Order: sequence, then structure tokens, then C-alpha cells
Amino acid sequence: MGSASAAATYQPQRAIDEFLLRTEGLTKRYGQRTVVDGLNLEVRRGDVFGLLGPNGSGKTTTLRMLLSLVRPTSGRIEVFGRSATHPAQLREAASRIGALVEQPAFYPYLGGEENLTGVALLSGMPRGRATRERIREALAQVGLAARGRDAYRTYSLGMKQRLGIAAALLTDPELLVLDEPTNGLDPAGMVDVRALVERLARAGKTIVLASHLLHEVQHLCTRVAILKDGRLLAQGPVSDLATGVEAIEISFARPEELPRALAAVQTARASGLSWLGAASFAVPEAGGHAPPGGWCLLVNAPADRAPEIARLLAARDLFPTAMRPREAGLERIFLALTGESTAEAGTTPPEPSQPSRPFMITTRAMKGDVS
Ligand SMILES: Nc1ncnc2c1ncn2[C@@H]1O[C@H](COP(=O)(O)OP(=O)(O)OP(=O)(O)O)[C@@H](O)[C@H]1O
Ligand SMILES: [Mg+2]
Repeated sequence: MGSASAAATYQPQRAIDEFLLRTEGLTKRYGQRTVVDGLNLEVRRGDVFGLLGPNGSGKTTTLRMLLSLVRPTSGRIEVFGRSATHPAQLREAASRIGALVEQPAFYPYLGGEENLTGVALLSGMPRGRATRERIREALAQVGLAARGRDAYRTYSLGMKQRLGIAAALLTDPELLVLDEPTNGLDPAGMVDVRALVERLARAGKTIVLASHLLHEVQHLCTRVAILKDGRLLAQGPVSDLATGVEAIEISFARPEELPRALAAVQTARASGLSWLGAASFAVPEAGGHAPPGGWCLLVNAPADRAPEIARLLAARDLFPTAMRPREAGLERIFLALTGESTAEAGTTPPEPSQPSRPFMITTRAMKGDVS
């Protein structure tokens, strides 16, 4: 660090800030129920960080704790390199974080610009030209510059959501926290909001985004944390997680054999075979062998373990018609991780007629569903 150029480019603030957000053992209990359980999250500057999990896995509760809207039962939160415990630090951090977690309440008969003026004044921004300028900038950032004077009630759902993001952007925050930003939108609205998130990320914002949609996280995020029942199942770069697990796709001649095969694999796993991962029912990959009934068994295991799996199946009188390695994707990891308890609860394979929705974890979550 002796040279002049190194000194010129050295940014101590940046080094301190490398982790914009960190949690240690973050836990929330409501009564007897632990809804967020010992989370250690790490969000670095420049990340588009996906908090991925099915309904009720604790995403919103986690975001609320990060934003000091809910008090953690235990654990530590560090924002911008400082422990977020003292009120003064929280206030300072708050101006550097923009969030869209609750549905924002806008006045239906006022225009977007007037609504944002209300938000700005409420959040303590001064009345005057600078704030008016900032509001126009924020509207432009979300692609609503031309509609700023139109009444909020005339906006499409996607525009309403983008206005909410504009409100979160008013203080030009470094960190943007978004809870299911595309929830309830039609496909066009989803595309708009995702494009907006991409633009903001390119413009250097660090973004934490909760979603139950795997493909959304896969598409938008650089890093992901997978939650289930409030616990962290995996965390890392999306690209790493997408290549971390190998799987073998196993087909049978008769659909009735699937539950027995699942049970056989699970029993073997429970007996301590360390190389044998979770098993679940899945739709075969495009181009793969299409078994009767349309479903196969997917076992997380290295491809070269296929003979051993064949042997343990044969011991139960189960003889696959096909076994093939499947390239692991984040989808499979997510389903294998989060779907495991359902599979282990002994559910029957999905009805063959049921349309396959490999990316959609659930359809229940809708606006206002968060308790
Ligand atoms: N204020 C509360 N009191 C009691 N239980 C709560 C409260 N808030 C959340 N919970 C419970 O905590 C669990 C996690 O809820 P949370 O809303 O954080 O999940 P989520 O991952 O955001 O789900 P979704 O995808 O449906 O939005 C749920 O079982 C929920 O019922
Ligand atoms: Mg939620």
C-alpha cells in the first residue's frame, strides 16, 4: 500500500462496509413457535441477495427484523459494519436503507408525484426544490416519469408496485430491501419489476430480495440463502449452489413402485450412507425417459453411485427401467431441500394428470397474506 496510486484507490469506508449486512444467530420466537431460527446471513456490497423459501419459512419476519420493524428474540444484526442496537445507529442506518416490505398505503386520488411528496415529508426530507428533484428522479428510475401526475388509482398493479419501489428509493439508499416484489403481478408486470431490479443492481445498489419463486431468484440474484421452517438450509453464490449437488433420475415401469423406491432410498439414507442425499418425486428432464405416469424418483447422489442404488432397490424387488445422471440445478436443490419433509412424510407421488410446475413452489402467497 506504499505507492501513491494504491493510496489513491484505497477506500477505507468501502473496506469497512464490505459486509453491508450480517446476522449472527438471528432468531424470532412467537410464543412457543420459533419462526426464524439462528440465521447467519452475509450480504456483501453489490450483492443481489435472494432470500428464497416457501410460504411461512420466515422470509418476511427476517426482513422485518433487519429493518427493526420486529424485535429479534435473540441474535445479532450488523448493518454497514456496525451493530444495529443503539437507536442512533439505527437512525443513521435507516437513511441508507430503502425498503418495500409492507404494502405501501398511497392515496388513490393523488398522483404518483404527490404521493411521493407525502412519503418524502413523512420521512423527514426537507420541503423544496431538492426534494422535488429527487422525487422526479425516483419516478424516472422506476419508469413512471410520464405518469407522475396521474392518479394512483389509475395505475396498473405493476405501476403501483414500481411506485412503492420509487418510495423506497427516495433517500437514494445503498441497500434496498424488497419483499416478494413481483407477487400478485401479471407476467408483464413481473417483467417490468424484474427489469427494474436489474437496472438498480447495475446502478450499484445492493439488494436483498425475498421470494418464493426459484426462477426469479435464479434469474435476478447473485447470492442466495434458502430458508425452510425458519432455518438456513444453504447460502452462497447462485452459480455455486447450482452446481453443488448431483442427482440421479430413476424411472420405473409402474407408478406404484415410486413410493416404495422412495422409502427404500430413505431407509438406506437413514442407516447412514453419507453419499446418499435427499430423494423426491420429480418430472423427468426434457429429452429424458418418460416413465408411465410421468414421474420419476430423483435422488441426490453422485452419478457413479448408480450401481449401489440399483443394488439397494433390487434388494426390495425394485428394478428401474432407467437411471440417468441429472445435472443439478438450483431448482433441484431447492426442491430437494425444501421438499424433503413432504417426501419423507410418505406422500404418494403427484397425480400424473397434475400439471407440472417445476419452478413454482406454491401459489398461496398473495398480497396481504403475510401475517
Ligand atoms: N406477528 C406474528 N405472530 C405470530 N406468528 C407470526 C407473526 N408473524 C409471522 N408469524 C409466523 O411466522 C412464520 C413465518 O412467517 P413469515 O411471514 O415470515 O413467512 P414468509 O416466508 O414471509 O411467508 P410468505 O411466503 O407466505 O410471505 C409463519 O408461520 C407465520 O404464521
Ligand atoms: Mg412473506
